[in-house]
Amino acid sequence: MQKIINKLAVMSVKGTQQILHQKAISRWVYNHIYYSRWLTGGMIFFNTGLVPIDDEVFASGITDTQNPQAQTYHEAIKAYRRLTDWHDTHQVLEVGCGLGGGMHYLRRMLPSACLVAIDLSMSAIRRSRKLAPCFYAQADAHALPFQDASFDWILVVECLHKLNVEHFFLEAGRILKPEGVICIVDFRATTFQAISQRLQAACTAQGLHIAEMTDLTERVLQFAEQPQQHQHTLLNAIPWPFRWLGRELLVTPGSNRHSSYVQGQRCYYLCAVQKPAARLSNNDQLTA
Ligand SMILES: C[S@@+](CC[C@H](N)C(=O)[O-])C[C@H]1O[C@@H](n2cnc3c(N)ncnc32)[C@H](O)[C@@H]1O
Repeated sequence: MQKIINKLAVMSVKGTQQILHQKAISRWVYNHIYYSRWLTGGMIFFNTGLVPIDDEVFASGITDTQNPQAQTYHEAIKAYRRLTDWHDTHQVLEVGCGLGGGMHYLRRMLPSACLVAIDLSMSAIRRSRKLAPCFYAQADAHALPFQDASFDWILVVECLHKLNVEHFFLEAGRILKPEGVICIVDFRATTFQAISQRLQAACTAQGLHIAEMTDLTERVLQFAEQPQQHQHTLLNAIPWPFRWLGRELLVTPGSNRHSSYVQGQRCYYLCAVQKPAARLSNNDQLTA
């Protein structure tokens, strides 16, 4: 018995250390990336991007050069529409808003929604605030500073891979309203089947269910492999010692990321998770 208790204690200390470690690194890295305008000067999104691009994205007029990145958000919007009676009065939270492009796009698509965004990095919050008028807070996705059942929709674009999945679903499930939806668009250095099983297990443990799981890898590769004048300009603006990192982030053919996607060792996916409707307790049923 004592052995089991010791093992559990060691595991929980290790788990906490892992989260703190990743969080500290993540905050430091993103603070510097977003602060350095030579790297993210004209950018409002910080995600990989995919094609084909829907007419609605073109029509939004949000940005000429970053439509593939706006499309990533549009995929989340489409999943939310498929699962709910889409209307504009919803309470929406973005976790890991980055440079604020997602909030900027959502504000156009949902002019009267209450939009709230958090990010671990203070530079992210500062830059997002300038771009889109919403409520922002510097916060950690593992400890969301909101009351239970406050949001209809939670969006997480290219942020889940930074998080402890089980811990995040515990928090997100808590602040989600009954029948609310979490839309995740992200990559993972594993097969689509493996990440599907991992997310399934984490959701089930919190009483949530996966309503949609879609493999978007081919669409990311299609974008990465098409001739791109803009990506070229972006890469050339990065100081030479860091250009390899730019090639990885842009999934340029020849980069490690590109080959791992092609070989099926990495995938890009959309996952839509739904919270069940609130169940009536026995007392409620008796008085109803
Ligand atoms: C790849 S960027 C994506 C930004 C944005 N969603 C987009 O698509 O343009 C990931 C973001 O997640 C944020 N992040 C990482 N760990 C986080 C955490 N524990 N809590 C909140 N945000 C976090 C980073 O600061 C960064 O801004």
